[in-house]
Amino acid sequence: MTLDVSSAILQRRATKHFDAAHIMPEKDLETILGLARRMPTAFNIQNWRFVALKDPELRKQVRAVSWDQAQVTDASALIVLCADIKAWEKSPERYWENAPDAVREYMVGAIDQYYRGREQVQRDEGMRSCGMAAAAIMLVAESMGYGTCPMDGFDFDAVGKLINLPEDHEIVMFVAIGKAASAPKPSGAALPVSEIMIENRF
Ligand SMILES: Cc1cc2nc3c(=O)[nH]c(=O)nc-3n(C[C@H](O)[C@H](O)[C@H](O)COP(=O)(O)O)c2cc1C
Repeated sequence: MTLDVSSAILQRRATKHFDAAHIMPEKDLETILGLARRMPTAFNIQNWRFVALKDPELRKQVRAVSWDQAQVTDASALIVLCADIKAWEKSPERYWENAPDAVREYMVGAIDQYYRGREQVQRDEGMRSCGMAAAAIMLVAESMGYGTCPMDGFDFDAVGKLINLPEDHEIVMFVAIGKAASAPKPSGAALPVSEIMIENRF
């Protein structure tokens, strides 16, 4: 099953109950993450890292520091989206490998100039990149017939310890993916466009 983008957006809901017996084929996860990595990042620094928690014991430990939320253990896949805060300085020429030499050299210089010494910008960039990747993961998964749940209801420090989060990375959020086991409750409410769209200035 595949869905067009509008249908995937309209159909997607935060899945609270997953079929714990369902096993996701590895190729489905590869398809989902393979498409998520085509989302844009500033300067193409691809500063996201997708940690797939496959060890059931680790999932149990993560659930214990995630308000005991069942999605953590029952989803077929649990992705911890992390930002590599220092991706900008890790061999940045590879982000522009396919570009002409002059373009690549220019971009490498521009990346350094933009990020060096700007800790808040480096961190914010990771949040932007992972936020967009999370949206792509959810919509691609939806179009493939999966339910998803975006999550930040967990102890970030405790999860960081459990996954050996490197010093220069930050956890952004989880996305749980699997077969929905119950129909979603009625949607909260979507604010009207007239309220969320501001013309020119606040
Ligand atoms: C960043 C983020 C964190 C969230 N954390 C949780 C969570 O920890 N547990 C949960 O059940 N839902 C979580 N949600 C789901 C939201 O409650 C849900 O998306 C929102 O109420 C809108 O409902 P809908 O997604 O079904 O349209 C989270 C959503 C986002 C975007």
